[in-house]
Amino acid sequence: MDNALEEIKRKIDIVEFIGSFVTLKKSGRNFKAICPFHQEKTPSFVVSPERQIWHCFGSCQDGGDVIRFLMKWENITFFEAFRELADRFGIKYRKSTFEDQAWKKRQRLIEINTLAAEYFEYILHKTRLGEKASNYIAAREINIKIVKKFQIGYAPQSWDSLFKFLKKKKYELAEITETGLLVKGERGSYYDRFRGRIMFPIKDARGNIIGFSGRILNPEEKIAKYINTPETSLYHKRESLFGIDLAKEAIKKKGEALLVEGEFDVISPNQLGIENVVAIKGSAVTREQLMLLKRYTGRITLALDADAAGEEAAKKGIEEAESLEVDVNIVSFDFAKDPDEAARKDPSKFKEFIKKPIPLYDFIIQSAKNKYGTADAFSKKRMGEEVCIFIGKIKNPIVQSHYIKKLATELDVSEKSIEELIRKMRYRDKKRQTFSLIKKISSEGLRETLLQKFILSTIFQNENLLEVTNIVFKIVEKDDFFVPSYQKIFQTFLKYSEKKEKMLNPDRFIQLLPVELRPVFDEIYLFASSDFNIGYENLERLSYEMKRYSLKRKLSELLHSDKEDQGGLKDQLKQINQELNRVEKLIVAM
Ligand code: CTP
Ligand code: MN
Repeated sequence: MDNALEEIKRKIDIVEFIGSFVTLKKSGRNFKAICPFHQEKTPSFVVSPERQIWHCFGSCQDGGDVIRFLMKWENITFFEAFRELADRFGIKYRKSTFEDQAWKKRQRLIEINTLAAEYFEYILHKTRLGEKASNYIAAREINIKIVKKFQIGYAPQSWDSLFKFLKKKKYELAEITETGLLVKGERGSYYDRFRGRIMFPIKDARGNIIGFSGRILNPEEKIAKYINTPETSLYHKRESLFGIDLAKEAIKKKGEALLVEGEFDVISPNQLGIENVVAIKGSAVTREQLMLLKRYTGRITLALDADAAGEEAAKKGIEEAESLEVDVNIVSFDFAKDPDEAARKDPSKFKEFIKKPIPLYDFIIQSAKNKYGTADAFSKKRMGEEVCIFIGKIKNPIVQSHYIKKLATELDVSEKSIEELIRKMRYRDKKRQTFSLIKKISSEGLRETLLQKFILSTIFQNENLLEVTNIVFKIVEKDDFFVPSYQKIFQTFLKYSEKKEKMLNPDRFIQLLPVELRPVFDEIYLFASSDFNIGYENLERLSYEMKRYSLKRKLSELLHSDKEDQGGLKDQLKQINQELNRVEKLIVAM
């Protein structure tokens, strides 16, 4: 595998590879992007073409090579990612390599889920226990072909029938529990999670069953209408879309995905031959779900419930969609409460509606107008503010200008006043963001470490090495780095810089470092490219700030030391104090 691993790294250019998933922008010697793995507004995801690595400086604090990227992107194990890349790029490897623990375990959990789905289907179709459920399904006008297509089943009203079935198939309690199919009772015993429910298997894009959703037959009961598999190693709610395995080809073909709220809202359109449908299962659209859809199309039509909750869900997904540059349209049925009802009540009207969705921003303007009206100046103000939150964030200037005009017309005010409002709101936003960032740094007491990291990074990234080292070396010495690994790296750099190159060659530099420090270097190296640059422009000032921290630290160490030589101590204290005074004066003057 070692050879194959090296070949993967040699053959695949990380910028090109990650660039096919994420929009990368050149930034100095690196590339930057909005991190695809967590929610953020400013880019903290950095890719280095020279080092062939990536790193997220935001809440992920993670990074690595192409394999690590694919692992995170597809939520798969190292071996799965390795195999996928090797296959895709025609790299040969020995099959036995994949007898990997994590992979095997995942396969077993999928196996258990698959068996459970077959069990639920069997109960529904072949036993008397499933009769009521069959009647219910028929009453909802779902035909048998579709029931089979979605592998719908029924979990009998029993505490342990599935558990017993799986035990008979020789699965261990621990692994069955890991699928989420069992619940641990208060007395430590285990029982079936899904009882007396119509069962919908939830699958990943490849068709592996990762979890279940169960609906009770009789909604009067005082229990949740739907329950779902909890978060497990297979099932992550934020990342899953009900129906994606069946819908993905149709989505690609149509160039559009229809996004709905519930299982039945996927199923009923399928009966009409509309197959590009997936469900978010009642919650807001997440970034992860949009990213999954983006693999197949950049155009999404939201058909959510007609109630206010549906509207909220639509709005929650907007910022994400805008930052991912996904086109969003909305259908809202005025003749039914949800897509399931609409599709059954009037199939031809349903088809007409989904053919003519309203662009998201028109929908926002319309719903704000319904909410506030435009009767007087203050209603207009409220409507304007609500709409501007969204149109203020439109990336494309032509699209944005179009909606500014439209809103101005609706409100019967000048376009200039809308633009002014957007500017004001943006300013307010920025101030709030900067404030929370500053608070975070000081509260976490990270500033000194960050400074050291930033100074090193600025040196390593700079395209005029001589100039930056002239500034830094004049002020900062090796001992000023209090993080030991940083100190080592700086020390190595002092030696390296004797060659007086114009730019640092990271590959050559890394050879000079002991193996355990190489990842530390990689992280430092990319750091200055992340957006962590509040007031960090002036390298000289920052170097002095770093010196100040270091002097203060030395001072405190001396004061707490129990050295014999009190006279010598006094001299040292005096000297450091003087130096500290000088540095502080310089900083104030800058
Ligand atoms: N949902 C859920 N958990 C709940 C309630 C709802 O996961 N406790 C999800 C289900 O996927 C459901 C969707 O949210 O299909 C929409 O819920 P709701 O609006 O309550 O669905 P209804 O249309 O009322 O339910 P149904 O069509 O099944 O009668
Ligand atoms: Mn419904």
